[in-house]
Amino acid sequence: MTIDLQPTTGLKDSIEQRRAARAFRPDPIPEVILEEILHLGLRSPSGYNLQPWRFVILRQQESKDTLKSCAFDQAQIAQAPVVLICCGDRAASSTENIEAVIKLGETHNAMTEQFAGYMRSQIPPFFEHHPSFESLESWTNRHTMLAVAHLMIVARSFGVDSCPMEGFVSAQVKTAFKIPDTVDICCILCLGYADEPLKPFGGRFGIEQVCFGETYGELFRL
Ligand SMILES: Cc1cc2nc3c(=O)[nH]c(=O)nc-3n(C[C@H](O)[C@H](O)[C@H](O)COP(=O)(O)O)c2cc1C
Repeated sequence: MTIDLQPTTGLKDSIEQRRAARAFRPDPIPEVILEEILHLGLRSPSGYNLQPWRFVILRQQESKDTLKSCAFDQAQIAQAPVVLICCGDRAASSTENIEAVIKLGETHNAMTEQFAGYMRSQIPPFFEHHPSFESLESWTNRHTMLAVAHLMIVARSFGVDSCPMEGFVSAQVKTAFKIPDTVDICCILCLGYADEPLKPFGGRFGIEQVCFGETYGELFRL
């Protein structure tokens, strides 16, 4: 039997209710909900559909305690029932991955010989000269963080809270969790059920402060 799992919260409320949880209750996330969060989170877009994001998923207390010790002892890592080490694989630009993406497209009837040829000829020089990004790490981070944003909003829509975290020592995390040098760690994402009270909402800058019209710095008018 397949269960059609529907979110309990709509998109607007999920975005407005998502908060960075600083403490989690010990309640586990049901497996079907975790699977759905991952499944929908991975619908995130990526350049050429190369999908460089990779996630190390921690559910054992020992693993979470180890990660906490690499992350300035931030308590929520040990408390959250599920913690993701969100990574980006630089090898996503490899011939092997390009071929895997072409094959995936074929299975979805979304790939033509012409586009496959375009990918094979365009992607290697794009990564060699990388006119669109300064470093491969910025490329992996760009994509992985977008998937993380999807995951956080989807999680909230299923009543699951999160905390994205950059406070960790990358080299220590890489060693402890056998993450290769060619893989960048973008952030940690705690998932679970927030222990109240959440810290007060700090607000956001308004449209007029962060959006510009036509050129950077020019007033944007609606
Ligand atoms: C990239 C990134 C890194 C963050 N790192 C940490 C962190 O290491 N520890 C932590 O407690 N919160 C961390 N946060 C959460 C922010 O502090 C939080 O999102 C911000 O204060 C706004 O609060 P809100 O998300 O509840 O609206 C991080 C958030 C982002 C997006």
